[in-house]
Amino acid sequence: MIDRLTLHNFKAFRDTSLPLGPLTLLTGLNSSGKSSVLQAIALLRQSYETGDLVVYPSLRTWQTGHLPGLANRGFLLNGELVGLGTGEDVLHEDFAGDEARIGLSVDEGPYHYGWTVEYDPEQNLLPLLDVDVPLTSEGGYDRPAGPEAVSPSFFTAPFQYLHADRISPAEFYPRDHHAAIGRRFLGVRGEHTVNFLRHHAGDKVPEGPLHHPRAASDLLGDQAAAWMGDLCPGVDIRADTIEGADAVRLSYGFQGTLGPTRRRRPTNVGFGLTYVLPIVVACLTARPGSLVLLENPEAHLHPQGQTQMAMLAAAAAAQGAQVIMETHSDHVINGVRLAVKQGRITPDGAVFHYFRGDGTGVEVVSPRVDADGMLDQWPTGFFDELENTLDQLIG
Ligand SMILES: Nc1ncnc2c1ncn2[C@@H]1O[C@H](COP(=O)(O)OP(=O)(O)O)[C@@H](O)[C@H]1O
Ligand SMILES: [Mg+2]
Repeated sequence: MIDRLTLHNFKAFRDTSLPLGPLTLLTGLNSSGKSSVLQAIALLRQSYETGDLVVYPSLRTWQTGHLPGLANRGFLLNGELVGLGTGEDVLHEDFAGDEARIGLSVDEGPYHYGWTVEYDPEQNLLPLLDVDVPLTSEGGYDRPAGPEAVSPSFFTAPFQYLHADRISPAEFYPRDHHAAIGRRFLGVRGEHTVNFLRHHAGDKVPEGPLHHPRAASDLLGDQAAAWMGDLCPGVDIRADTIEGADAVRLSYGFQGTLGPTRRRRPTNVGFGLTYVLPIVVACLTARPGSLVLLENPEAHLHPQGQTQMAMLAAAAAAQGAQVIMETHSDHVINGVRLAVKQGRITPDGAVFHYFRGDGTGVEVVSPRVDADGMLDQWPTGFFDELENTLDQLIG
């Protein structure tokens, strides 16, 4: 699990260090830096996946002071997970320090990993300048002494990253074997979700917090339908191949009072169901060690559904995954507080960050939740709109 992410001269962040938990909520006004936090993590993962980010050398290499392969590697700004532009877009405009350098670092348990890249205004591969010595918090190496390379676990852990802009209802979805089945990746827009479900509907969801009490079975297809049923009672989902085409189809059925309805196309059942499906599948397939990044899981859901999404994310975190999500929803915030109060997740397991940005920098306030779900502070602007509006209506 990533316990801490530190951003140096990265977009809106001059020098910010954020503790992260099993379930982290990033909140704040528009353009306050929430997505940039997810992008920083995705940028590291993307750079590793493309082979552009050096794997940590072994202890022996550190001791000899020789860092192989540093040249021509670094942060790949544009790729499958994020498209950030060039160095000019990413370097914090009012950069800290004498030199224009961008740094990201993560702490995982006792291990610290950090990368610093050179600024190049034109390029989208920012060359690596330096890698932090992977000291443990005790100051020792505590690293394998053999020739093997070491890297943070989130580089290789099961990973999902769902952008705010996701799949909408459509007649068919791509059938990409490599993404959905080989890599188990739903796509940043969730575009591989339907094909993933088609292939994996019969997989078991392990016993534990992700199990929906009213699901017909412990299989992924039934579990997903049950969680979706909290948004729209009686719904079931099916993903099928389309004969002769490299595409898959999604359909919905409903338990009507006169028995099950005919299958219905996504375009005929409302936007929210399809829009949330990738979120539901990402959470249900999260396992201990998985990393799930979600932007606005509440989008297009009614308030009760938003609370349920928070419960589902809390369940994924309680199952051992790390979930980091950006949200504008007080129902999601309150859903997580309720999950804490109900003992579904520990108070330490839920981390809240409230970002206040003014276009030039970011201030972060981090309310803490107690076992009753109460927050120790309520900064101005942090989901206080209801109260503000009611005050004006009543006053
Ligand atoms: N290179 C940069 N230097 C300074 N600020 C930047 C830079 N790039 C983007 N920003 C700022 O970052 C903010 C966008 O952050 P983002 O994470 O997309 O916001 P949101 O909170 O809506 O997800 C905007 O305020 C923008 O002005
Ligand atoms: Mg955003």
